Amino acid sequence: MAHIIALAGKGGTGKTTTAGLLVRLLVEQKAGPVLAVDADPNSNLGETLGVPDGPTVGGILDQVAAHADKIPGGMSKDRYIEYQVQTAVKEAEGFDCLTMGKPEGPGCYCYVNNVLRGVVERLIGDYRWVIIDNEAGLEHLSRRTTRRCDTLLVIASDTPVALRAAQRISVLADELKIKTGRKVLLVNAAAGDIRPERLAGLRDLYAGRIPYDEAVERSGAAGGSIWDLPSSSPAYLAVRTFVEGLIRK
Ligand SMILES: Nc1ncnc2c1ncn2[C@@H]1O[C@H](COP(=O)(O)OP(=O)(O)OP(=O)(O)O)[C@@H](O)[C@H]1O
Ligand SMILES: [Mg+2]
Repeated sequence: MAHIIALAGKGGTGKTTTAGLLVRLLVEQKAGPVLAVDADPNSNLGETLGVPDGPTVGGILDQVAAHADKIPGGMSKDRYIEYQVQTAVKEAEGFDCLTMGKPEGPGCYCYVNNVLRGVVERLIGDYRWVIIDNEAGLEHLSRRTTRRCDTLLVIASDTPVALRAAQRISVLADELKIKTGRKVLLVNAAAGDIRPERLAGLRDLYAGRIPYDEAVERSGAAGGSIWDLPSSSPAYLAVRTFVEGLIRK
């Protein structure tokens, strides 16, 4: 069974960086097949992971909606979408990557979205680990794009605002009855230990901190790849400890 890790958090807290590090570490630890899903329409997980741009699921849905007549004879629409989405899965070194993008065209996507859910569910079955990098905020929860995950990984910076947002995400996930195996908070880019009063109400979630890391900041600013970070870098080491815990479970 795939273990699905969905990332969530306020804007700019380090979701994509952490998602990239998770993918790298799962690959390096040979933890089984990994699928990286970039579910942020303003996507950059692919870039972080050094995967070249390619077709997105949103683009495919646009094509299917615009050219329903082009579906090869004898093939059902569902089967056609499934086939197209399979071709959008990019094979990288040691992992696969799927970019959701977003449909641009007018019209109703309810039908294709429903089909898509089934396709993605089946696709996920081929992997041991699925890392889903989401857009900032609560939208993906309230729109139920994130419907099920084994680990809801909330990323916050060490600021009262980001930590309050993390708490809201956790409460909302419960209210919306999103099926989460467990919810976990990592405080990212922390300059030092987190002040205990800041974690009031977050004790059950808090799983550790990822230190502020100059190399990560430089790489982020330069649009660099997560694979180029030295394995002595503090953020890398913190995520490694987290991943080792995940694999042991
Ligand atoms: N531990 C860290 N130390 C230093 N800089 C960091 C750290 N984590 C992330 N950054 C930097 O912070 C910036 C934002 O990180 P990232 O893009 O991962 O955040 P995000 O939550 O995915 O943002 P968005 O909400 O826009 O998707 C990037 O430039 C990244 O390099
Ligand atoms: Mg991001």
